[in-house]
Amino acid sequence: MRHLLDTHTLDKTTALRILDVAEDMADTQSREVKKLPTLRGKTVVNLFFEDSTRTRISFEAAAKRLSADVINFAAKGSSVSKGESLKDTAQTLEAIGADAVVVRHPSSGAPQTLATSGWISAGVVNAGDGTHEHPTQALLDAFTIRKRRFGADSRGRDLAGVRVVIVGDVLHSRVARSNVWLLTTLGAEVTLVAPPTLVPQNVSQWPVRVLYDLDVALADEPDAVMMLRIQLERMNAAYFPTEREYSRRWGLDALRVAGLPDGSIVMHPGPMNRGLEISSAAADSARSTVLEQVANGVSVRMAVLYLLLAGERDDERGGDL
Ligand code: CP
Repeated sequence: MRHLLDTHTLDKTTALRILDVAEDMADTQSREVKKLPTLRGKTVVNLFFEDSTRTRISFEAAAKRLSADVINFAAKGSSVSKGESLKDTAQTLEAIGADAVVVRHPSSGAPQTLATSGWISAGVVNAGDGTHEHPTQALLDAFTIRKRRFGADSRGRDLAGVRVVIVGDVLHSRVARSNVWLLTTLGAEVTLVAPPTLVPQNVSQWPVRVLYDLDVALADEPDAVMMLRIQLERMNAAYFPTEREYSRRWGLDALRVAGLPDGSIVMHPGPMNRGLEISSAAADSARSTVLEQVANGVSVRMAVLYLLLAGERDDERGGDL
């Protein structure tokens, strides 16, 4: 595995391999083997041009638990504010010794450019690019769904027959896109629910069902309900109903949670707008996997870094991810 840029081109065998290695990583953590020597001598650079809490911190924790050195780079406060380019920034970090670059960028396609331009030779992991993709978020979401469904017996299992409803600001959501591709590759049935103005124009080409009424979707008794953050920072006012109307029609509240079948889980990638797309009662309910997703994110990112830096290289197996 040379890079992890998206889930759209991730084949099922590789996706299951990542999830199974993540199971192994989670096992080591639960046995309180906090640190593995696997990536000793390797350097991971977190190259973040956009804010992050969960993704940046969990990549740092993942790298450190594998004994890699970690350099955290935030564009704010760096020479990016003086106009330094992505190419020069990346080459500077590689000169310092980066073996892998974990990149978050507001422009869709920036990680792909880093991986394919020849500017650097380090492996590239997409930690979220514009509205395009957030592959490790989708992997940790799939890991969470699989773990809840199969428990200790998860390894090797796909998500055939699992029904997932993804609700909210699909238009701006890289999390939704990565989840649609990955979950359907793994065999899940995905339904998107959103106001018509927050559905992408090309959604008819996606392998999903689209509904506009959340209560109709919930009546089908899904196994997982994934709420998306309303991305107010990317929102054109013309797109958006009032917050009150949004919350009433598309928000997940205690009443809607109470109507879910036994075993159905409530997911959110974070950060949450409490009281908008999800009420506190729903976010903190016994069905919520929000913090479980965060914890699983460390295991999944350990697996990705392991496969990138210690596993088979694509030049050995004949292709990119
Ligand atoms: N889910 C997610 O990407 O969160 P952060 O923006 O905090 O990394």
